[in-house]
Amino acid sequence: MKYLALEITVLTGLPGSGKSSLARQLFPQYKRINLDTLKTRAREYKEISSALEKKEPIIIDNTNLTMKGRKRYIDIAKAHNVPIRSIYLKCPVEVALERNRSRIGKEHVPDFVIKMYHKKLEPPTESEGFDFCEVIEIDKSDSKK
Ligand SMILES: Nc1ncnc2c1ncn2[C@@H]1O[C@H](COP(=O)(O)OP(=O)(O)OP(=O)(O)O)[C@@H](O)[C@H]1O
Ligand SMILES: [Mg+2]
Repeated sequence: MKYLALEITVLTGLPGSGKSSLARQLFPQYKRINLDTLKTRAREYKEISSALEKKEPIIIDNTNLTMKGRKRYIDIAKAHNVPIRSIYLKCPVEVALERNRSRIGKEHVPDFVIKMYHKKLEPPTESEGFDFCEVIEIDKSDSKK
């Protein structure tokens, strides 16, 4: 995977596809931005701005399923003249459901939400404004790993 000193990486993937795990494992030095934790867009924007000021690379760890939803990060990157890339966790809905099944408490998402999100998912493309788009293909046999 290409490494850029200062950049914004936007993850896209269903709930349960493994975004937060990937962010923690592969990008431990990145500032991880998660809207569920930060609660408001205002706080999210503040966190992103302060990381950029400190020259910290950023990983956006939300489902980021639609082009419209991803545009806010593309706009921020362009405004700051910072490269932006997409990493799409292409995950069969069965695998997301299976991984979600093992989560408890607030982490657990109802099955119908995952199925609904699967229908509305728009795979990221460079034409949206990403400098590049990477795809991580998750195999059906990965579900029980
Ligand atoms: N590569 C993997 N192989 C097997 N299990 C995995 C893998 N990555 C993550 N998991 C497991 O799948 C579950 C979901 O992972 P994770 O919380 O990272 O998903 P997420 O995409 O961040 O979901 P959400 O959008 O709900 O935050 C967790 O229980 C995690 O341990
Ligand atoms: Mg997560």
